[in-house]
Amino acid sequence: MEQSVTLRNGASVRVRAIRPDDAPRLMALCRGLSPRTLYQRFFSFRRLLPEEAHAFANVDYGQRMAVVAEVDDGHEPELVGVARYGPSEEGTADIGLVVADAWQGLGLGTLLLEEILHAGEQRGNHQFSADVLTDNRRALRLLARHTAITRRTVAGGVTSLVFSRRADAVLEATKHGGS
Ligand SMILES: CC(C)(COP(=O)(O)OP(=O)(O)OC[C@H]1O[C@@H](n2cnc3c(N)ncnc32)[C@H](O)[C@@H]1OP(=O)(O)O)[C@@H](O)C(=O)NCCC(=O)NCCS
Repeated sequence: MEQSVTLRNGASVRVRAIRPDDAPRLMALCRGLSPRTLYQRFFSFRRLLPEEAHAFANVDYGQRMAVVAEVDDGHEPELVGVARYGPSEEGTADIGLVVADAWQGLGLGTLLLEEILHAGEQRGNHQFSADVLTDNRRALRLLARHTAITRRTVAGGVTSLVFSRRADAVLEATKHGGS
């Protein structure tokens, strides 16, 4: 799984499965997030610890999976977005998604969501879930538009969704090449 994608601003990003050596890049991505984005993703203002980044970067590519969006300006490759899932107590594949602030609004969140849902389905995961802050309209709209939501519960300012991939999801980003 690897493809190059041209975003709405003309920038090219590589979308690929996460690798163990991404741990320091995950920490750098997390360090660069605005407090708001950080809180919307992790429900906390705490940055990733090295052991957490290590765990996030080491997936089994089945029950736990992550895809990253990487830019490479010729110096050091940098991660600008990550989508992941891991097993939940309810037996769903629980999704987490974040795009670096400067890269939001370009279709990357939509693309990463579609890629992680596709990766999950290919690995036999068809029921997904996500916890989203109830005031996070952007993420809720993204999920409502690109998935088929089967359950929605709201408690303590958090909206918990169960959903499956929508076969007719429309990708707005333009894909070039890849496999
Ligand atoms: C949610 C998130 C992943 C979306 O990423 P993104 O790259 O901005 O997403 P897209 O560019 O594909 O846009 C997604 C939607 O947001 C809308 N949007 C994008 N930028 C926006 C902005 N500045 N203001 C309002 N809406 C905006 C888009 O129009 C699109 O809406 P649509 O699906 O109705 O067309 C990103 O905002 C993020 O990382 N947020 C913090 C973490 C988070 O909320 N994670 C979800 C819970 S795990």
